[in-house]
Amino acid sequence: MTMCGIVGYVGNNSAKDMIIDGLKSLEYRGYDSAGIALNAKGKIIVRKESGVIANLEKKIGKQDFDGNLGIGHTRWATHGSPIRENAHPHLSADGRIAIVHNGIIENYLELKAQLKKNHRIEFKSETDSEVIAHLIGAHYKGDLVEAVRKAVERMRGAYAVGAIAADEPDKIVAVRKDAPLIAGIGQDSNYLASDIPALLKYTRDIYLIENDEIVIITADDIKIYDEDMTRVRREVMHVTWDAAAAEKGGYEHFMKKEICEQPEGIRETLERRLDDRGDIKLDGVELTKKELDAIDRIYIVACGTASHAGMQGKALIERFAGIPTETDLASEFRYRNPLVNERTLFLCISQSGETLDTLEALREAKRKGARVLSICNVVGSSVARESDDVFYTWAGPEIAVASTKAYTTQLVCLYLIALYMGRERGVLPESEYRRMIEELRALPQKAEETLKTENQIRELAERFCIKEQIFYIGRGQDVGTAYEASLKLKEVSYINSFAIAAGELKHGTIALIRKQTLFFVLASQDALYEKMLSNIEEIKARSAHVVSIAKKGNRRIAKVSDETIFIPQCADEVAPILAVIPLQLLAYHIAKLKKRNIDKPRNLAKSVTVE
Ligand code: M6R
Repeated sequence: MTMCGIVGYVGNNSAKDMIIDGLKSLEYRGYDSAGIALNAKGKIIVRKESGVIANLEKKIGKQDFDGNLGIGHTRWATHGSPIRENAHPHLSADGRIAIVHNGIIENYLELKAQLKKNHRIEFKSETDSEVIAHLIGAHYKGDLVEAVRKAVERMRGAYAVGAIAADEPDKIVAVRKDAPLIAGIGQDSNYLASDIPALLKYTRDIYLIENDEIVIITADDIKIYDEDMTRVRREVMHVTWDAAAAEKGGYEHFMKKEICEQPEGIRETLERRLDDRGDIKLDGVELTKKELDAIDRIYIVACGTASHAGMQGKALIERFAGIPTETDLASEFRYRNPLVNERTLFLCISQSGETLDTLEALREAKRKGARVLSICNVVGSSVARESDDVFYTWAGPEIAVASTKAYTTQLVCLYLIALYMGRERGVLPESEYRRMIEELRALPQKAEETLKTENQIRELAERFCIKEQIFYIGRGQDVGTAYEASLKLKEVSYINSFAIAAGELKHGTIALIRKQTLFFVLASQDALYEKMLSNIEEIKARSAHVVSIAKKGNRRIAKVSDETIFIPQCADEVAPILAVIPLQLLAYHIAKLKKRNIDKPRNLAKSVTVE
C-alpha cells in the first residue's frame, strides 16, 4: 500500500495522545482506516479501526493503556480493502515488532511466498505492507536497526517505514526510499512523521530524511545514518508556517478557504519575485542568455491540475520566450522514451512535490541529461530536493484534495519564468514586458473582484446541481481553463463533465447536444472572441443552455448567451487566472448542495504517491 500518514512519538508524555493528535492533523490527506501501536511496559499493544480517526480515538479512549513510545498510521487503501485487518500497524509473527508503512512494496508477492515457505508465517492482512513486519521479525536478533537494514535489502519499491520492537522500548527506527519522512525535534521528546502538519503543534524544528537513510529516534536524540551506517549531519529545518494556516480559519471547508486565499497567494508568489523596478528575480535560479540559448526544447510535465497549468505554461513560454515547448502527462512521459538530452529543460510542476508519476518522469529526464527546474508548493518535498532548481509557489499549505490556490500560483510562476526567459533572450520587446508586469501586478485585486461573482455562482449552482453532465469549451488559453474547470467539478461534485477545445466540437462531440444540455463557454480571449461567438451560435442552434465567461464590457456575448459571468478586464494572457475562479466556486457550490465530502472526495487523496 499506500497514500497514507505516519506519526511516531518517543518521550516523557503520553504517546497515545500525541499520535492520535498527529494523525488527526493528517486527516486532510484522505484515508479510510487508522491504527496505533504502543510499547507499553515491554509489550506491543495495537489498536486499529476502519473509517474516521474518531472511531479509533473512541475505541482507545476508554482503554486503560498508554506508553511513552509508539507509532500511528492513516491508511488509504490500494492493496486490500479498507477494513480493520488491513489497517496499520502490522505485527511480526510473534507480535513483538510493529511497523507502519507509506509506499508500495513492489515485490511483496515474492517476499510473501518466501516468508510463508521458509518461516511458516500466516498473513493476517491483504496488504503489501505486512511483509515488512515479518521480514524485520525474521531478521530480529535483539537489534532493531540491524533487522530493519536486512529487511530493506530485500524490499523493492517505495517506502517510508517506522518500526518499534517490544524489547527496545526506547527507540523508533525509520527508513525511507521515495516516500516522504521527517523527524521532529522536541524537548525530552522526539517525533517521526510523513508530513509537517502532524508535528506543528509539537515542534517546528525538523530533519528531512533522505532516500536510503535510516533514522534512530530516542527521547533525547535523533541519529541519521546513510545506507552504510555512516552518521549523517543534517541541518535543522525550521518550519515557518503559521499553524492556523493548516486549519480552516472560519470557513466551512478548506476548499472554500483556499479559493478565497487566491488573491493573497497570487500577491505573495508575485511580489517576492518583483523588485521596485519591475525586474524579475528567479530566487537565485541561474538562467543566463547563454544557458537559455543552449536549450532547444522545453518539456513541461505534471499530473492533474498541475498539468493544466502546464498547458498554459506552453503557450506563455512559446509566446514570450520563443522556445519550442511541449507538455506531457507525467504518467505518459515516463513510458514513451521522450526525446530528451542535455539541451532540454525539463519543467516539472507539482503542488505536493510527492506525486510519484511526476517524480519518476523527473528522474527519467535527469537520467537523459536534462536540466530540471520545478515549480512546487512544498519546501523540502521530493520534487524540490531532486530538481536542479526550484521555483516555489507561495500558496501556503493546500489542504483540500481539489487543488485551487496551488493552480493559480503555478500560473503566476509560469508567467514570471516565461517573461524572464523572453527578456533574457532578447526576444521580448521591453514595452511588452512592461505591459505584462503591470497586468500581473493588477491581478491580486482583480482576483478579489472576481470572487464577488459568488452570489451569481451560488444561484447557478442551485439550478444546475441536478444536471447529469456539464460541458466546458474554450479556445487558445481557455482550453486549459476548460480542462481545469471540468476536473474540479468532477472531483468534488461527482457530476460527469467534459472539456473540449471549442473548434473540435463539430468533429464529433456535437452529437451529444440535446435540448438544455449545459455548456460553460469560456470566452476570455479577445483575439478569439468572434470565433467563440460562432461556437455559441452553433450550440444554441441545437437548444443547449449557454453560460459564458467573458471580460466585462463584452456585451455581444451577453446577448447570444443565456447568461454571462463577467470577469474584470485584463490582457488575454493573464485571463486564465481570473476565468478559473468562478468555475472553482461553481464546483464548490454544486458539491455543497449535493452534500459531497468536499475536502476529501471519494477515492481521492491529496498526494498520489502511487503509480
Ligand atoms: O501534488 P501534485 O500537484 O503533483 O498533484 C497532481 C494531481 O494529483 C493533482 O493536481 C490532482 O489532479 C488534484 N486533486 C486536482 O484538484
